[in-house]
Amino acid sequence: IKMIPDKAPGEEVLHASGDLKKQAHIPSFEKYKELYIRSVESPEEFWGDVAEDFFWKTKYTGKFLDYNFDVTKGDIFVKCMEGATTNICYNVLDRNVHERKLGDKVAFYWEGNEPGDEKTVTYRELLQQVCKFANVLKSQGVKKGDRVSIYMPMVVELVVAMLACARIGAVHAIVFAGFSAESLCERIMDSQCCILITADGFYRGDKLISLKLIADEVPWNPEVDLCWHSLIGGASEECEPVWCDSEDPLFILYTSGSTGKPKGVLHTVSGYMLYTAATFKLVFDYHSDDVYWCTADIGWITGHSYITYGPLANGATSVLFEGLPTYPDVSRMWEIVDKYHVSKFYTAPTAIRLLMKYGSEPVQKYNRTSLKILGTVGEPINPEAWQWYYSVVGEKRCPVVDTFWQTETGGHVMTPLPAATPMKPGSATFPFFGVVPAILNESGEELEGPSEGYLVFKQPWPGVMRTVYGNHERFETTYFKKFPGFYVTGDGCRRDKDGYYWITGRIDDMLNVSGHLLSTAEVESALVEHEAVAEAAVVGRPHPVKGESLYCFVTLNDGINYNQKLEVELKKQVREKIGAIATPDYIQNAPGLPKTRSGKIMRRVLRKIACNEQDLGDVSTLADSSVIEQLFENRCCTAV
Ligand code: WTA
Repeated sequence: IKMIPDKAPGEEVLHASGDLKKQAHIPSFEKYKELYIRSVESPEEFWGDVAEDFFWKTKYTGKFLDYNFDVTKGDIFVKCMEGATTNICYNVLDRNVHERKLGDKVAFYWEGNEPGDEKTVTYRELLQQVCKFANVLKSQGVKKGDRVSIYMPMVVELVVAMLACARIGAVHAIVFAGFSAESLCERIMDSQCCILITADGFYRGDKLISLKLIADEVPWNPEVDLCWHSLIGGASEECEPVWCDSEDPLFILYTSGSTGKPKGVLHTVSGYMLYTAATFKLVFDYHSDDVYWCTADIGWITGHSYITYGPLANGATSVLFEGLPTYPDVSRMWEIVDKYHVSKFYTAPTAIRLLMKYGSEPVQKYNRTSLKILGTVGEPINPEAWQWYYSVVGEKRCPVVDTFWQTETGGHVMTPLPAATPMKPGSATFPFFGVVPAILNESGEELEGPSEGYLVFKQPWPGVMRTVYGNHERFETTYFKKFPGFYVTGDGCRRDKDGYYWITGRIDDMLNVSGHLLSTAEVESALVEHEAVAEAAVVGRPHPVKGESLYCFVTLNDGINYNQKLEVELKKQVREKIGAIATPDYIQNAPGLPKTRSGKIMRRVLRKIACNEQDLGDVSTLADSSVIEQLFENRCCTAV
């Protein structure tokens, strides 16, 4: 708490307009600070108020938030409102339709890939569809606790499928539709799903993606394939929700792990519900007349928390967009903003940088006067992109909320509150309620005041992940072993003289390509599986739009020649193993890799070579320094 200043600084910062402050839930920094202290010192009171908005079949019995964050004291665990029973689908749909009388309110404006392809779904209609599909799942034998894999494009049926699972207490495990058959298979097997829900296909821009064909590569018995439309046609619209315990699993979502094998991040019902609802309401300063649009895909955590659960819990109207920011042209986003009068808009730095390249004219073709708040997520936003977003898109009227969080955190953890927090371009500013950050040095000592080091959290908030599905030990090792007593994010962070936090990016073997986390090990093992490759090392190279691009060094087996054909094959290999998001940008033939005497690849050196930086720093531990010259000579200058 002492790390949060009493007053935000008056200089070098940008403030929200008076109009926005007037109606805001958290109108000033003083109010933020007051509530923040309460949220950290008395989580039960703070979250208890949030919980009042929801329906509980039975009340919780033990402590509001019970936990152990210290591996030296026993198993790591987090429990929120244990003993209470509820149903998240009931809370985000039935309660809105029946108690809050929002049945006729639009839940989603679905906007297809092709302009003109559109559909409107009200809360009542969504509830009906969810009940019908929940009955379909039941008729297929799906029960509480069963895992259901979902591999679908951005269509309303995807939301219906996930909420139908939640309604009957089944655990959804959504796999982003850009993943390959092999990645899908790995996730289905790991989460032991009993059913896969997919679609025949969809268009992304002008490209057809035949999802069902990809899914059929998964070892699966074609005799069990059933058609959504024929099943749902005859299903009943009545479906009693299954009451779940607070700590029953809600979903599994896979995220890249540094060993290469993805981790099944597990979230549970009540804590996740409270956290996504509260962050949505306060970070986007949600009001009932808003039209909200998050451009993320539901296959990632941003879509789970801020397209489905957070907005629906608040009874919000959202745009659900199937397409791309550049199709049919680079004005598409702003055309949609005007079409639906979007007031709160949430996207990724990579999309901003992409559109920035085309200048302000495509933006200014549309008036965007409905916009009130702009958000970003997924990677650090460079101040230049921030300024463009703020000045050109928002015309300096709209605060920008730079929200830092992770699949693991369930919701925003470091973020400005739009009317309360004076902004500094590129800073995720301060912690959300209940979140206690710290910065540690390499030896695990907590740093005070202006400093830079590992970003960690000292105590849980309701929405934090509970375990890695099927591997609690991996959960403890990944997040809690390095610095006992803390949750380790894997990100670096700097705190400035005013107490603002600046996320500096991953400090583990993870890469962030267009906002998608990839582990270097995952890409390396896909490359090494090719018969020509003996060894591979992958590093990130800064990229003006994607943030980072994949630069791969490959050492070939004896007697094999490096040529264009092999390069194409290697690229294809990675796409097929992981998916298009992991396609290498550069592949370099590397007859030797820089290694320490103990055989460890020196990635730090490879990163410099990828960027053609001659100053390699200290290379005294290098086993054979002659490889360096050769690597510089063979550098790739153009992407493959
Ligand atoms: C990065 C996405 C800086 C970070 C919600 C984190 C960010 C990883 C920001 C999680 C931000 C996300 N500023 N970095 N505002 N938001 N990141 O699990 O490295 O897909 O650890 O969750 O993205 O990615 P994930």
